[in-house]
Amino acid sequence: MLSTAVITISDKGSRGEREDISGPLLVEMLKENNFDVTTTSIIPDEKEMIESTLIDLSNKNIALILTTGGTGFAPRDITPEATKAVIERETPGLSEIMRAESMKITPFGCLSRGVSGIRHNSLIINLPGSPKAAKENLMTIIKSLPHAFKMFLGDSSHE
Ligand code: MTE
Repeated sequence: MLSTAVITISDKGSRGEREDISGPLLVEMLKENNFDVTTTSIIPDEKEMIESTLIDLSNKNIALILTTGGTGFAPRDITPEATKAVIERETPGLSEIMRAESMKITPFGCLSRGVSGIRHNSLIINLPGSPKAAKENLMTIIKSLPHAFKMFLGDSSHE
């Protein structure tokens, strides 16, 4: 099973002012699809904190790191920039198909600026923040992920 982390990025969530629904929802979906969720956390929309969290998880060899939140146009939305700062190779197809499929559901689908990419042995994927958006976006790509890992890990170092 692939080790996985779910990081909720939300100022209000990190201060305990808003219940994190998206994080637990993603964990549930991942478990149903045989991913081993080893880490969950809630952090504020702070670029340096997001970067250090992603680097830390990747250094721990977590195979899949999902973020939820901070991908929109609000002034504090900085998740894509933090992600781009730490990835070594982009995986644009994942983010492109999530936006394309989202547009079939809502005209706001194009308002997520989420990116995705590989750092060391980790695949990092930004998902939007609302529970509905996070779920719909993960649904679009979840079946592609096992093959992606077969290609890029090529061994059992994450099992
Ligand atoms: N994608 C899907 N599939 N469903 C949605 O409801 N909401 C959009 C978009 N992507 C949405 C979606 C909206 S309203 C926003 S503002 C952006 O995701 C960014 O969300 P975030 O700022 O919470 O990350």
